[in-house]
Amino acid sequence: MTDAHDLVKKVLAELPAWLPAQRWFGGKDRPVTGVRELTSTVLNAEDPVLVHLVVEVEQQDRRAPYQLLATDQVEHCDATADLELNGRLLDLVARDARIGDLRFEREPGVEIPTGLRGRPVTSEQSNTSLVYGSQYILKLFRKLTPGPNPDLVLQRALQEVGCEHIARPLGSITGVLDGRETTVAMLQQFVPDAVDGWAMATTSVRDLMAEGDLHAYEVGGDFAGEARRLGQAVATVHANLADALGSQRADADDIERSVRAMGERLDRVVASVPELEPYVPALREAFEQARDTPGGVVIQHIHGDLHLGQVLRTVHGWLLIDFEGEPGAPISERTALRSPLRDVAGMLRSFDYAAHQLLVGQPEDHQLAVRALEWSRRNRAAFTEGYAEAAAESVGDPRQRGYLLRAFELDKAVYEVAYEYANRPEWLTVPLSSIARITGEGA
Ligand SMILES: Nc1ncnc2c1ncn2[C@@H]1O[C@H](COP(=O)(O)OP(=O)(O)O)[C@@H](O)[C@H]1O
Ligand SMILES: [Mg+2]
Repeated sequence: MTDAHDLVKKVLAELPAWLPAQRWFGGKDRPVTGVRELTSTVLNAEDPVLVHLVVEVEQQDRRAPYQLLATDQVEHCDATADLELNGRLLDLVARDARIGDLRFEREPGVEIPTGLRGRPVTSEQSNTSLVYGSQYILKLFRKLTPGPNPDLVLQRALQEVGCEHIARPLGSITGVLDGRETTVAMLQQFVPDAVDGWAMATTSVRDLMAEGDLHAYEVGGDFAGEARRLGQAVATVHANLADALGSQRADADDIERSVRAMGERLDRVVASVPELEPYVPALREAFEQARDTPGGVVIQHIHGDLHLGQVLRTVHGWLLIDFEGEPGAPISERTALRSPLRDVAGMLRSFDYAAHQLLVGQPEDHQLAVRALEWSRRNRAAFTEGYAEAAAESVGDPRQRGYLLRAFELDKAVYEVAYEYANRPEWLTVPLSSIARITGEGA
């Protein structure tokens, strides 16, 4: 039998080699130069040993805290693959336990059974989620930021105003990091019959491509009705967020800052991706035009990383999940008040991706390219129309804010150019052809 102290020592030694192989590890671009224990909390002292661990991962000049569960039961560092041990976490939440600095807590009025086993979700993730029975999903945040996590803060606020488009938050785990109370995990209602939006949308695209001469509105898998309902759901969540946490008018400084940030991102990306060069003047002009939005710009809390992989279709309608914001962005940006049209732009980009991903590797097929564009246009229009139908008056119809929406969409596409260049160079044509199209068409 290992004792907890020896286990932590062993795990710390293994982490530099193990971390870079984990999907959720955010620092794959450079080597791990050191790992140091920040906090360790013994959850089981023996048989099997289970230790909650927060480590600081050092990579040359960068440092970031990560959460781990260490055990002597499974090979390699991490206990989240062990269904029995995972059960322990839900039990602790069910009992509102406190162990050391860790606080396990149910949301008010929630009852949770004990004795359930937790199986890890296998889809690609930036965190690690465990599913218990058919009712509970516990997300362990991997890279930690001191303070409350926006995922929990925003969904709690939405729950309080009775939002129908989220999975109900049921509990949380809080630790202490840099002397601040820090959300390390969130428990939510699991929706067992849900299909994610990306899977639905790409199936529809494939149906259309297989149909030869038919148009998008003629084939069985037409997605436009779903896209429209999704637009309504997103607009409703925005209205609920504004009700719960307020909204305000952007002042000249806010607008200046956001236009400058778009320009700076463009500078950074074009410095390493020469393929973007021809579009720079048109992109700059588009960002400048965002200053002149008639009727002003409303800012509020938003989702911040909205795309088809962050929405679930249930028998009752669409749910939005994962309100953490862009995982790579600093917390100040993730919690800032921003225009809800950023989320609309994110979803519009995602429709474009769903349509064009089948073309990667076969750029010469003109017929498929026409189909992809047709699918994208139809579903983007349906989504925007649905959004306009349900939008709060202050936010209004995104089509009336053409320059602003266009700038946000282009800004997102510039981000995608950098991402694809670094990770999937054969996909670079997807954002680049969108940039060519959007800047060519005008607002
Ligand atoms: N409430 C839920 N019900 C059913 N499945 C869910 C639920 N929440 C998340 N999932 C599944 O888990 C995946 C990851 O969840 P997400 O919150 O996006 O985590 P991450 O922060 O790791 O991206 C989702 O893509 C979805 O497939
Ligand atoms: Mg996600």
